[in-house]
Amino acid sequence: NKVVLAYSGGLDTSVVVPWLRENYGCDVVCFTADVGQGAIELEGLEQKAKASGASQLVVKDLKEEFVRDYVFPCLRAGAIYERKYLLGTSMARPVIAKAMVDVAREVGADAVSHGCTGKGNDQVRFELTFFALNPELNVVAPWREWEIRGREDAIEYAKKHGVPVPVTKKSIYSRDRNLWHLSHEGDILEDPSKEPKKDMYMMSVDPEDAPDQPEYIEIGIVSGLPTSLEGKELSPASLLSELNKIGGRHGIGRVDMVENRLVGMKSRGVYETPGGTLLYTAVRELESLTLDRQTIQVKDSLALTYAELVYAGRWFDPLRVAMDAFMENITKTTTGSVTLKLYKGCVTVTGRTSPYSLYRQDISSFESSEIYDQADAGGFIRLYGLPTKVRAMLEKQD
Ligand code: ARG
Ligand code: SIN
Repeated sequence: NKVVLAYSGGLDTSVVVPWLRENYGCDVVCFTADVGQGAIELEGLEQKAKASGASQLVVKDLKEEFVRDYVFPCLRAGAIYERKYLLGTSMARPVIAKAMVDVAREVGADAVSHGCTGKGNDQVRFELTFFALNPELNVVAPWREWEIRGREDAIEYAKKHGVPVPVTKKSIYSRDRNLWHLSHEGDILEDPSKEPKKDMYMMSVDPEDAPDQPEYIEIGIVSGLPTSLEGKELSPASLLSELNKIGGRHGIGRVDMVENRLVGMKSRGVYETPGGTLLYTAVRELESLTLDRQTIQVKDSLALTYAELVYAGRWFDPLRVAMDAFMENITKTTTGSVTLKLYKGCVTVTGRTSPYSLYRQDISSFESSEIYDQADAGGFIRLYGLPTKVRAMLEKQD
């Protein structure tokens, strides 16, 4: 039998390979998804996987699929977890796990495996996707089964099994990177009262070191989805990577938070989402022109549930899919462009325009207008305030 392992090349997944062979006697096919984690992480992977005992390494470039089918729907929905988290890791797990289900079919594997610890969210996201897309697959989660407890144990196990210990300089943080974001957890971050070290950040400069001159950018949006930068059309992944560079050099999109993991514990994490922060700001701003009051309220309240589902690994639930149908429908006219001003970690909106704008200068202007008669306001206020008046009359009686 055969197992497809979500493989990163790091120590945590490298030791899984010999362990699966030893304990399940199976052929191990390593799978690595390119979701924009960067060239350094993808370097020399095949050789590493084989040195660990894998029979083959399958790499798939999922960058466009990831941004188009996972990131952009979350963006259009305005999904934010616990007030701050733009869901970067949560969005990536279903695209990776879905590809693993495909690879399992392609290579004839009957099982899938991952190197997530038993204390986190990622195990849930991987496994719920496996369940949703192929309930027949067996799932092996070595970190929940074996005796290996930490890094030292893992190194010892690797040495004993002749697996080369990855030479890449091990960071003290647990990180996860893709085209949308970079997360940092662990080490000194485990004390929520402590400020992260300046040298921890990788996608953005310290706002204090950002240019003294502001930069203006214009983002084009079609039906709730970003399509262009400075009037130039770009694919989802290229647009995002362009915006990461721009946002990153102005120190935009850093989030430091304590969040509630699905498995019950709180954890402190720091996220860098430079391009994503610009996109969230732009899309939301355009909605102020194209959506009416109650639509915005309903959309925002659904966004909370949407975020919750994504965080909890329920990407393939019918509820998330149905919510996307709502989001798609309601943002059909959210088309136009937004101008942002970037300056030392801050993004401010300086302009927005849409051919479907519900804003009418001729109505809103302080100059007199045809459609709006100020005299109408008197009757409106009398009726609108009637309940207020009735209550006050009652209170005055007793
Ligand atoms: N806490 C974040 C989340 O649950 C980030 C998880 C990072 N994962 C990792 N394997 N380092 O989405
Ligand atoms: C892990 O435990 O594998 C990483 C953290 C998480 O999944 O939340």
